[in-house]
Amino acid sequence: MFHQNMKNPRFQNSYLIFYVHSFYIIGVISIILIFGSLAECKVSSSSKLNNFDYTAINCRKHSAILTEFDAVGDGKTLNTKAFNSAITKLSQYANDGGSLLIVPPGKWLTGSFNLTNHFTLFIQKGAVILASQSQDEADWPQLPILPSYGRGREKNEPVGRSSSLIFGTNLTDVIITGNNGTIDGQGSVWWEKFKNDQLKITRPYLIELMYSDQIQISNLNLINSPNWFVHPIYSSNIIVNGLTIRAPVDVPNTDGINPDSSTNVRIEDNYIESGDDCIAIKSGWNEYGIKFGKPSQHIIIRRLTCISPKSAMIALGSEMSGGIEDVRVEDLTAINTEAAVRIKSAVGRGGFVKDIFVKGMNLNTMKSVFSMTGSYADHSDSKFDPKAALPNVTGINFRDVTAKNVTIAGELKGISNDPFTGICISNATIEMFVNKDADKVKLPWNCTDVSGVTSNVVPKPCELLPEKKVDCSFPNDKLPIENVQFKTCSI
Ligand SMILES: *[C@@H]1O[C@H](CO)[C@@H](O)[C@H](O)[C@H]1NC(C)=O
Ligand SMILES: *[C@@H]1O[C@H](CO)[C@@H](O)[C@H](O)[C@H]1NC(C)=O
Ligand SMILES: *[C@@H]1O[C@H](CO)[C@@H](O)[C@H](O)[C@H]1NC(C)=O
Ligand SMILES: *[C@@H]1O[C@H](CO)[C@@H](O)[C@H](O)[C@H]1NC(C)=O
Ligand SMILES: *[C@@H]1O[C@H](CO)[C@@H](O)[C@H](O)[C@H]1NC(C)=O
Ligand SMILES: *[C@@H]1O[C@H](CO)[C@@H](O)[C@H](O)[C@H]1NC(C)=O
Ligand SMILES: *[C@@H]1O[C@H](CO)[C@@H](O)[C@H](O)[C@H]1NC(C)=O
Repeated sequence: MFHQNMKNPRFQNSYLIFYVHSFYIIGVISIILIFGSLAECKVSSSSKLNNFDYTAINCRKHSAILTEFDAVGDGKTLNTKAFNSAITKLSQYANDGGSLLIVPPGKWLTGSFNLTNHFTLFIQKGAVILASQSQDEADWPQLPILPSYGRGREKNEPVGRSSSLIFGTNLTDVIITGNNGTIDGQGSVWWEKFKNDQLKITRPYLIELMYSDQIQISNLNLINSPNWFVHPIYSSNIIVNGLTIRAPVDVPNTDGINPDSSTNVRIEDNYIESGDDCIAIKSGWNEYGIKFGKPSQHIIIRRLTCISPKSAMIALGSEMSGGIEDVRVEDLTAINTEAAVRIKSAVGRGGFVKDIFVKGMNLNTMKSVFSMTGSYADHSDSKFDPKAALPNVTGINFRDVTAKNVTIAGELKGISNDPFTGICISNATIEMFVNKDADKVKLPWNCTDVSGVTSNVVPKPCELLPEKKVDCSFPNDKLPIENVQFKTCSI
């Protein structure tokens, strides 16, 4: 799955650690099994899992196959009804060991459908869930706008938005996984209509879970979403791992994974190639986000590989009005990407971005490595408070960075009466792109309204970030979501 990166020795290393860790977990589960407390989970004795073994936060007692509900996998027959009746039927087992729906090999065309509690959607290798290409409301029911945005995010009108292809709200314990099955959003029709301003409401996301707890999304190929790919919002205890996410690099708003007003999130071992940010952490828009007041916090992101020529590997904002705090990021690789970890905010946003920790970035061909802006003037409406609603951006730590072929090392722009403070950058080596034809050499750093320190950074940083002997901090403790272990389940 990480074909692009197996040449990268650091990546191989972490992969090895990952496997060693998995064996450790299997060992721990075996011991627990001996004492008989995990009756529903069978542990495979070898590392080779058969088709119907998989790892998950919870195993299920009941299961069904999509074809039991008159589904036709020819890529032409619409199966929305089959998905809905299967999941409605399986929802009766929520309090009796939970249930699992197998999507077998085939092409399963469908409109939007809803998930249920204590439920696993298992997409087998060779199975493709294909999103309907009609923009009809029958396939894409209209949902009310998100309260923390106050508007359709892209129509900028207080109207509705299209339900995501796979949707869930107010759920507990929901898993979307498979052994590398595919969800294809067939987004091209939406991208065209969006570019030509032919849509009345905000485009659907591929997967959205709202007000939900205990979510796992893993081991799948997600391609060509109409809009963002994975959007957990107002949710908690979320694991997203082993996804390969791909959209053409020139299509609008195909962000990979966007935790939004969500807590306790673990995002590991994903490969993302997209026309927008690979990951964007958000928490609502201007006065609506401030009023809703739900931050995104306690988030760990590890071993991400990103290609995003027009956007960031990880963006914080620009919608951050409910606040973003305690984000830990380790072991990142970006190739041909505009910015690494980018903070975007504006006057009117309010909220905060604080306690951000980044350790270990290996970057190649970037417009800018360090990027912060306080003038991302993309507003929900004109009702924001330009005097009081100032973002508090503070405590932003980066260490152990190597970058090659970079146009701008650091472009750090705070807000004039509201500087971004507590920036720390240590042990960063940036090789600049040398454009022999340029008549004027660009300065590698451009900083205004920021303060902080740097240590052992090449090329020499701007004067607002003076040298001080430090290793920028990274927390030693573990987040609760890091202690959640996968079980090996068998159907
Ligand atoms: C999963 O799918 C991706 C993309 O199709 C492929 O590159 C990768 O090798 C597959 N991984 C496995 C384990 O089958
Ligand atoms: C899916 O959930 C939404 C939001 O609760 C609801 O409006 C819609 O009717 C549901 N769709 C189905 C098919 O149950
Ligand atoms: C979902 O949970 C939210 C927050 O607790 C609540 O406001 C909303 O009414 C719930 N919706 C449903 C359909 O239960
Ligand atoms: C910003 O947040 C920091 C840390 O929580 C706090 O010490 C500081 O007073 C805040 N600054 C403003 C202007 O609110
Ligand atoms: C500096 O960062 C590099 C990775 O870019 C890492 O290999 C090295 O160990 C770091 N050095 C120190 C002293 O932490
Ligand atoms: C370096 O970056 C420039 C764009 O900034 C790109 O055109 C060029 O192909 C890159 N060179 C390498 C060796 O990747
Ligand atoms: C720094 O950025 C500002 C725009 O924010 C630009 O006007 C200025 O020319 C840049 N300075 C340098 C030295 O590149």
